[in-house]
Amino acid sequence: MNLWDLPQRPRRNRASAAVRGLVRETHLTPDRLIYPLFVLDGTNRREPIASMPGIDRMSEDQVLREVEKALALGVRAFVLFPAVDEALKDGVASYGVSPENFYFRIARAIKARFPEAWLMSDVAMDPYSSDGHDGVVKEGQIVNDLTLPILAKMSVAQAEAGFDAIGPSDMMDGRVGVIREALDDAGHTGTGILSYTAKYASAFYGPFRDALESAPKHGDKKTYQMDPANRLEALREAELDMAEGADMLMVKPALCYLDVILALKQVCDRPIAAYNVSGEYAMLKAAAEKGWIDYGKAMPEMLLSIHRAGADVILTYFALEYAAHWRQTHGQ
Ligand code: PBG
Repeated sequence: MNLWDLPQRPRRNRASAAVRGLVRETHLTPDRLIYPLFVLDGTNRREPIASMPGIDRMSEDQVLREVEKALALGVRAFVLFPAVDEALKDGVASYGVSPENFYFRIARAIKARFPEAWLMSDVAMDPYSSDGHDGVVKEGQIVNDLTLPILAKMSVAQAEAGFDAIGPSDMMDGRVGVIREALDDAGHTGTGILSYTAKYASAFYGPFRDALESAPKHGDKKTYQMDPANRLEALREAELDMAEGADMLMVKPALCYLDVILALKQVCDRPIAAYNVSGEYAMLKAAAEKGWIDYGKAMPEMLLSIHRAGADVILTYFALEYAAHWRQTHGQ
């Protein structure tokens, strides 16, 4: 019964599942996801991370099983983060470029067994640094230009191990250009750079730092990671990264920064990635464990929102669960 003369009724396009399907603006398929894996030395090791239920640190054999599982679900892209023994850490992240580093061995093993997998590295000093910072520390300062050659060397070593893309997560000025030049000089012209373009000094990295025991030993990361209050500055970072040759640009974290994702998407001619970080994962898992939220609905809504905001690519710990959900709802 129509009591009012209302020619405009948006509800007509929501009246059935069929019409909702016709007008749906955004679809998030699992081929847009990058699944982060925490890797360890040794064999047959799988260590749970207390603040990230469902995510483990894994040795090579376990990682291979995880990659196989992911590929079967349609997730083909991975980023590897090394959990390194404290005894191997020093002020200049030497282990990050050591041929002994298990990180390179694991990358090679994945590419040998699953050549169809796309692998992204983490370029930063913090997993290997006794200071827990992403740059060289001198008299309490993080020194940009002393850090750049270390990042360049680490990138070349990673390209040699077979990574498809290098992921600088450090936020030093000029690192994309320096890394591109080093890769090209070493003949790795086919290795890409997915730059952490707008990486904010965020509280949402807490569980990740638990996973790698990589929290800064002193101070914070505010002199290099961005101020959560700023958006224009992200555009400046994006311009620089594009000029320096980045192949994809990332915004990190994702959920509190959807406006930044959109801002970059509107002006950049490169694919935009967003990192749905550890704290975002932990929040949802914790609420679900308490029965305070419907996890099965909230999780895909979260990822869809990041895609709708403009992220072409999403790095997420939910990757496998999302892919399984997608399969269920799209019946394959
Ligand atoms: C550090 C790095 C961090 C993350 C990825 N690389 C943490 C930090 O900057 O301290 C965080 C990822 C996450 O929280 O899921 N190079």
